[in-house]
Amino acid sequence: MSSSLSLLPLFSLISIFSLSSAYSTTLSLSPTTASPPPPLANPWQRLNHLSAASSTRAHLLKHPNTSTSAAAATKAPLFPRGYGGYSISLSFGTPPQTLPFVMDTGSSLVWFPCTQRYACNSCNFVNVNPSNISIFLPKSSSSSMIIGCKNPKCRWIFPDVQCKNCDQNSTTCKEFCPPYIIQYGSGSTTGLLLSETLFFPEKSVENFFVGCSIFSSRQPAGIAGFGRGPESLPAQMGLKRFSYCLVSHRFDDEPVSSDLVFVGGGGAAGAAAGVEYTPFRKNPKSANPAFQDYYYVTLRKITVGGVHVKAPYEFLVADAAGDGGTIVDSGTTFTFMESRVFEPVAEEFEKQVGRRNYSRAREVEDRSGLRPCFNVSGEGSVSLPELSFHFKGGAEMVLPLADYFSFLDDSVICMTVVTNNSTREGIGPGPAIILGNYQQQNFYMEYDLENERLGFKRQLCK
Ligand SMILES: *[C@@H]1O[C@H](CO)[C@@H](O)[C@H](O)[C@H]1NC(C)=O
Ligand SMILES: *[C@@H]1O[C@H](CO)[C@@H](O)[C@H](O)[C@H]1NC(C)=O
Ligand SMILES: *[C@@H]1O[C@H](CO)[C@@H](O)[C@H](O)[C@H]1NC(C)=O
Ligand SMILES: *[C@@H]1O[C@H](CO)[C@@H](O)[C@H](O)[C@H]1NC(C)=O
Ligand SMILES: *[C@@H]1O[C@H](CO)[C@@H](O)[C@H](O)[C@H]1NC(C)=O
Ligand SMILES: *[C@@H]1O[C@H](CO)[C@@H](O)[C@H](O)[C@H]1NC(C)=O
Ligand SMILES: *[C@@H]1O[C@H](CO)[C@@H](O)[C@H](O)[C@H]1NC(C)=O
Repeated sequence: MSSSLSLLPLFSLISIFSLSSAYSTTLSLSPTTASPPPPLANPWQRLNHLSAASSTRAHLLKHPNTSTSAAAATKAPLFPRGYGGYSISLSFGTPPQTLPFVMDTGSSLVWFPCTQRYACNSCNFVNVNPSNISIFLPKSSSSSMIIGCKNPKCRWIFPDVQCKNCDQNSTTCKEFCPPYIIQYGSGSTTGLLLSETLFFPEKSVENFFVGCSIFSSRQPAGIAGFGRGPESLPAQMGLKRFSYCLVSHRFDDEPVSSDLVFVGGGGAAGAAAGVEYTPFRKNPKSANPAFQDYYYVTLRKITVGGVHVKAPYEFLVADAAGDGGTIVDSGTTFTFMESRVFEPVAEEFEKQVGRRNYSRAREVEDRSGLRPCFNVSGEGSVSLPELSFHFKGGAEMVLPLADYFSFLDDSVICMTVVTNNSTREGIGPGPAIILGNYQQQNFYMEYDLENERLGFKRQLCK
């Protein structure tokens, strides 16, 4: 089995979604204001960066920092580096202020850059100019309120909060819910929790619990957490399901969008035609509360060109602690596989592609951080083995070639899956496979919360 690839360079990043069809009406959201990306001096650098960012993200999803620092965070959901992600616009406040957010199914808190004093350190990365990161101004909103320590929602983030300055029996305590500190591998954000109105033309959500970040590092925008925690956007909106279709990364920073669809309240039931489903795995009662935020699915096998790749079972299926197994994450760019899964996949490609006489481009592998890479110079059309994920329940995700191999220039293609170089044999903590957004391009993806299942269907997302 094989498919063909037309030339599709993989250079700039950050696509903008528009949000539509909440409660059956289409939302018109402000179009992206991003100007065309500047020509990239060195596309290799960017790829290298993206593959490093994808493995750093993987590391963080697997080793979330949940340590408690003094009165600070007890929960550390993990956030993506913004580039390489997808963003949506949301409007908060009265009157509404509209800002872009990175859409992230790997974490749950929703937060925005907040107040005139907002400071963002090391936020000067590709296509992001820190001086025009949009900020929310609580002073200009009549509905902003700081969440109090006794507010039950404070426990969403601080389950063991002690309101030391409150009279035990008082309901009118003035103490605030403690400031949150969210750590990332190479960044962080910190701020206070607010109650605000999340504005939609059809249905506003009052008293939405949202983070007002005063200081961040390495964040291109606020984050809209779509994970499984009670503070996530879908949970607070009481959504039955949400779905998206990610337009190709080749439109990065262009004003091209696709729909993120929310279905809540009395939203119509009924699956779209041709959608295949696999159940979400019940979240493991793990030592690490961050794992509760993830969407685990059960990947039963991986095939390359129809050949069943021998990946150890304990890596494919999560154990009771949440170690091993697969999660779906919109905030990761390139899919991550632990080396015991990655190596057999890469070897199978090398074996099958080798028969087609494409030579390895090792120099490019070193420069891009991706592998394997093949020199297909002089080939009119490129034919490669099909990559397919087989999920519990029989759902099969046959990836379009552009989702797992990308042209880096006219002559070299590389596999867009990353791993950890570690030679360590055991399973690390957390998921062994993180299905990133690159591998979700041009799929309709449905998170059916009501029926606890993930649906998908290949389609052109334009
Ligand atoms: C971002 O800032 C630069 C210079 O500070 C300005 O020229 C540009 O128009 C701004 N872009 C947007 C989208 O506001
Ligand atoms: C890879 O695994 C090693 C050993 O567990 C760990 O120290 C390292 O941080 C990991 N790197 C990434 C990028 O996950
Ligand atoms: C975890 O967070 C704490 C408190 O913010 C910090 O002191 C510590 O260095 C972090 N640990 C790691 C491994 O990042
Ligand atoms: C709180 O109320 C309970 C019962 O209503 C009472 O027994 C207790 O002494 C009160 N605690 C304080 C600190 O006032
Ligand atoms: C690969 O190269 C060998 C030797 O040059 C040739 O005999 C064979 O037909 C080629 N195979 C393909 C698939 O092009
Ligand atoms: C690919 O192969 C062609 C022809 O053999 C060669 O000229 C070119 O330099 C190679 N490209 C890379 C990046 O190795
Ligand atoms: C993995 O190994 C390659 C080549 O040895 C290196 O360039 C890359 O930085 C390594 N990645 C990680 C995450 O250690």
